[in-house]
Amino acid sequence: MQFKRTMITFLGLATAALAQAQGTWPTKPVTLVVPFAAGGPTDVVARTLAASMSQSLGQTVVVENKLGAGGNVAANHVAKSPADGYTFFIHHNGMATSTALYRKLQYDAMKDFEYVSQAVEVPMTLLARKDFPANNFNELVTYVKANKEKINLATAGLGAVSQLCGMMFQRALGVQLTEVPFQGTGPAMNALLGGQVDVMCDQTTQTVPQIKAGNVKLYGVTTKSRVKVLPQAPTLHEQGLKDFEVVVWHGVYAPKGTPKAIVDRMNMAVRAALKDPAVVKRMDDLGAEIVEDRTNTPEALQAHLKAEIDKWGPVIRAGGKFAD
Ligand code: MLT
Repeated sequence: MQFKRTMITFLGLATAALAQAQGTWPTKPVTLVVPFAAGGPTDVVARTLAASMSQSLGQTVVVENKLGAGGNVAANHVAKSPADGYTFFIHHNGMATSTALYRKLQYDAMKDFEYVSQAVEVPMTLLARKDFPANNFNELVTYVKANKEKINLATAGLGAVSQLCGMMFQRALGVQLTEVPFQGTGPAMNALLGGQVDVMCDQTTQTVPQIKAGNVKLYGVTTKSRVKVLPQAPTLHEQGLKDFEVVVWHGVYAPKGTPKAIVDRMNMAVRAALKDPAVVKRMDDLGAEIVEDRTNTPEALQAHLKAEIDKWGPVIRAGGKFAD
C-alpha cells in the first residue's frame, strides 16, 4: 500500500517535472483549496482570483472548499497532497494563529508548504443582527456588559479570524459570550441574518453588501484607519478599544516540494490576477486592499508568515483558549 502510494506520488512528480521541463504546466485543471465554506469571505477572494488566473494559466482553477477545525482540515489536506503543481491553498491569518491555538496540529505551517504569494488584505467589521437592541458602539458596550450571559457570538471556529477578532472584543470588554462556531462565516452570516445569533466579526469581503443593504447593524471596523468603502464606520480604536486592530491577510501556498518553476509560474498568475482590472474593481468594491507587488514574492510571504506566528503566539497564549 505504502509502495503503491510512493509510486503514484513519484509518477505524479515525474509527470509534473516533465511538464515543467517542457514548459507545458498546467496540462489539466488546478485546484485551489479554500479552508472555509463557499460564499464566505475567503471563498469570495479565492473565486475572484481563480477566474482571472484560469485565463492567464490557460486551465481552469477549480475552487474546492474543505471545511473543518477553523481551517486546519484543509491545511492538513494540502500539506499531504502530491507536490505535483495541481493543488494550491489559500489561507489567511489562521495559517499563523493555528500554530499557537492547536496543541496537536498534523502539519507544520513553516515546513510543509511552498510559499507562492500574498494576495489581499481585508478589514473586519463588528456587526449585530438587524434587530439587536444596541444602535451604536457605546450602546453595544453597555448592552453587552449588562447582558453577557444572553449574547451569542458567531465565529468560524478556533483558527478563524472571526474567532480571533471576537476573542479580542470580549477580552477588551472583560466579558465571556457564548461562542457559536460555524464552518465559515458564510453560514454564520446566514444565521445572523436569520436572527439565530447576535453579534459577529467578519470581513468586508462578505459584509459590505449586507451593510449597504441595511441587513445588519454595524458598530465599527477593525483597522487603525477608516475604510474607504465604509466611510461612515468609525474604527473600534477611535471608539475607545485602544489599539484594537485585526487586518486579514491572505497567502497562496503549495505542498512542500512543488517544483520551483511551477511555484514561480503560479506566483506570476496570482500577480497578474491582482493587476486584472476586474479583480481590482471587485476587491475595491468589497473593501479589500491588494498587497503591494513587491511583497508578492514567495520569500516575502514566508517572512510575513513567520512574523505573524511570532506576533500572535503570545496574544493567543495569554487568552488561554486552545484545542487539540
Ligand atoms: C471564511 O471564509 O468563512 C472566514 O474567513 C472565516 C474566518 O476566518 O472568520
